[in-house]
This record gives sequence, structure tokens and C-alpha cells, in this order.
Amino acid sequence: MEVTKRSQIREGKAKILYATDRPDEFIIQHFKDDATAFNALKKGTIRGKGAINNAVTSWIYPFLEKHGVPTHFVQKLSDREMLIKKVEIIPIEIVVRNRAAGGIVKRLGIPKGTEFKEPLFEFFYKSDELGDPPIGETHIAYFGWATKAELETLCRLAGEVNRQLKKVFREIGLDLIDFKLEFGREVKTGKILLADEFTPDGCRLWDLKTGEPMDKDRFRQDLGGVEEAYLEVFHRLEKYFSK
Ligand code: C5P
Repeated sequence: MEVTKRSQIREGKAKILYATDRPDEFIIQHFKDDATAFNALKKGTIRGKGAINNAVTSWIYPFLEKHGVPTHFVQKLSDREMLIKKVEIIPIEIVVRNRAAGGIVKRLGIPKGTEFKEPLFEFFYKSDELGDPPIGETHIAYFGWATKAELETLCRLAGEVNRQLKKVFREIGLDLIDFKLEFGREVKTGKILLADEFTPDGCRLWDLKTGEPMDKDRFRQDLGGVEEAYLEVFHRLEKYFSK
């Protein structure tokens, strides 16, 4: 598809969005090497991350589409850029947890690694100023962030993402511990689409053999081998998706 890049719309912590010559339909998402954690209190760079995250999302989103999850992905444009459909972002982060790690260990004292019988869904209000606070369905309804029907769609799609990706990661020797998703309403049609990205920045992956984290926790916790872990996930997925 021939779309021309126009001016920058906004720069986030890990990505930059650019307008296109079809401003109501498409935008360009650029992946940076910048990494932040703890609501940007910790800042750094993960060399090569932008290209890895662009590639990973460019494999995973079309795969999810095939399994009935509509996404904003249109096509990969270059090493660090992809063309996406323009959406109005729903200000809710949905976290799906298969095992306890991170926030739920800290907040509720659930022992790290505890396996949940059913995936656990949590909602957070997307706000940098407030540090993405946890919210419930009552807040979502009361403040009109999503309708009841939309929230049902979000949860159904997030559940499907979990079912499909758990299998993919298991096949490449990784345990999908948890992940965060963001959704939007396509500007042109109002349809709910999976937006943002699916990358080791926004999920936890533990190596099935060693139990080692292979995701942004290596950066958050100063475990070393950050670039190597991202690259390893990239290579395993590359092999899986080139089958
Ligand atoms: O920190 P917490 O345990 O709640 O994070 C759950 C999952 O969601 C992790 O995989 C984390 O990387 C992701 N997450 C994210 N962006 C946030 C909060 C969490 O990608 N703002």
C-alpha cells in the first residue's frame, strides 16, 4: 500500500507515531530502542530493541488476525516502522496473568510463580500522571471509558490472545507468564481493534528449561543480558513463524 509519512503526532516512551497522507485511516508506528520502567523513573536503552519489537509485533498481529483477533496492524514498512490503522485508544490497560509475577506479587502478596487455574484479568487506567492505577469494571462503566459490550469484547479478545500465544511460546520453550494489551476503536468504522504492540516490553516470558526471565524484567531488575534475551526471543519466534 502506498502511504506517505507526514509529521510526528506524538512521541511516547518506546514509540513514535507519525501521521500519513491518509490521516483519518492510517498512521505509522516507529519503535525506539528507549526503555523505561517504574513509570519512567528508570530510563535506559536496549540496543536493537526497536527493530526486534517491530518484527515481533509484525509476526504476532497477523497471526492473531488469523485466529479471529482484529488488530490495527496493516504492514511492516521497514526495520523500525509499521503501518497501522488509526484508532481512538480506549484508556484501559488489560493485563492477563497465567502465573503470579510483578504487580500482583507486590500488591496482593501472591507467591511469585503461582499458577492461576484460569487466566486472571486485571484492568488499569492508562495515565502516566497517575502511574496507571488499578481499576474495576464499576469505574470503567461509571466514567464511560468503555461500554459493557465493549468491555466484554476486550475480555473475549484478550482471552483468545492468551490461548493462542501461550501455545506459540510453549512451542519455542517459553512460558507466557503475563502480558498487557491495549485496544482502540477504529476511527473509520468504530470497530474494536487490538492496538499498541505485543513484545517482550509488555509481557513476561520465562524460559521453560531454566526459569530465567526473557523480557523487560531483565532491564527492570538489572539482571544483565537484556539485549541477549530480546534477541533470543526474536530468533525463536523467527524460526517459528518461518515454518
Ligand atoms: O507490573 P505488572 O505485573 O502489573 O505487569 C503485568 C504485565 O503487563 C507485565 O508483562 C508488564 O510488562 C506489562 N505492563 C506493561 N505496561 C504497563 C504495565 C504492565 O506492558 N504500563
